[in-house]
Amino acid sequence: MLVNGETEVYGIIGYPVKHSKSPQFQTAAFRHKNINAVYLPFEVKPENLKKAVNGIKALSIRGINITVPHKEEVIRYLDETSEEVQFIGACNTVKNIDGYLIGYNTDAYGFIEGLKEIEPQFQDKTFLILGAGGASRAVLYGLIREGAEKIFVANRTIDRVFQIIQDFSKLNRFIQEIIIPVPLDKVEDYLSSTDIIVNTTSVGLKDEDPPLFDYSKVQKKHTVVDIIYKKTKLLKVAEEKGCRWQDGLPMLLYQGAKAFEIWTGEKAPVEVMRKVLQE
Ligand code: ATR
Repeated sequence: MLVNGETEVYGIIGYPVKHSKSPQFQTAAFRHKNINAVYLPFEVKPENLKKAVNGIKALSIRGINITVPHKEEVIRYLDETSEEVQFIGACNTVKNIDGYLIGYNTDAYGFIEGLKEIEPQFQDKTFLILGAGGASRAVLYGLIREGAEKIFVANRTIDRVFQIIQDFSKLNRFIQEIIIPVPLDKVEDYLSSTDIIVNTTSVGLKDEDPPLFDYSKVQKKHTVVDIIYKKTKLLKVAEEKGCRWQDGLPMLLYQGAKAFEIWTGEKAPVEVMRKVLQE
């Protein structure tokens, strides 16, 4: 389908945004579904975020993904936000309904759908989540919504874990029994009682990053998920030890699929999108 006067515009706002894989796989989804739309990258500096959001309205851009570093800041410029956005404190998907902007967070859904591919029955498992930033909050929101009952949360700044417990108390009244704060330097003591390890920090993005804990302590019984889109040092160790493991691509895929469904009301062609991501 060629671009014409009726083509609808979608896109992603980030800074930087050049590395984003969303334009490829969202465009593939629109093509597959014969929807007359384009999906473009928009590099927006932090000081221009407000103008960019007003631009969504002015230009009737139908839907926008929001990525680093705007996921938190964008919330103040939206007309309405979903429950997930309110708990997580970050928004990655905006739908424009005739100039009225609604913010969603599809990262929690993305994480859970990805996790189900390697751990279909995770509710009774014990989790160890590394990190307590925006990505961690999305993972935790998803897990708690799905009924996970025991989650160690380790972070360099432990106060951020206590803040999450406080913020999520309205989500689940047993939150203090579900989320157990763990200082980062004590992680190794919790590994024997952990089933599923999830790294939500940015540590591992660069090969020279020092590890969050002694990865040689990872055991074959662990399932290891790293939400970074590559085989990090942690994942390499997991693979060597014979663990089940997963990188960040499934989460990326399913958060995008959910955004597509929010915008179009149609079922996302997940396998088409996955193929593009794997290329
Ligand atoms: P995101 O939205 O990607 O989660 P964020 O909110 O900035 O980003 O959170 C980054 C997470 O990575 C935090 O848990 C952070 O730990 P602190 O809360 O102590 O800052 C963690 N992180 C980043 N760099 C780290 C490092 N070098 N060592 C340990 N943790 C690190």
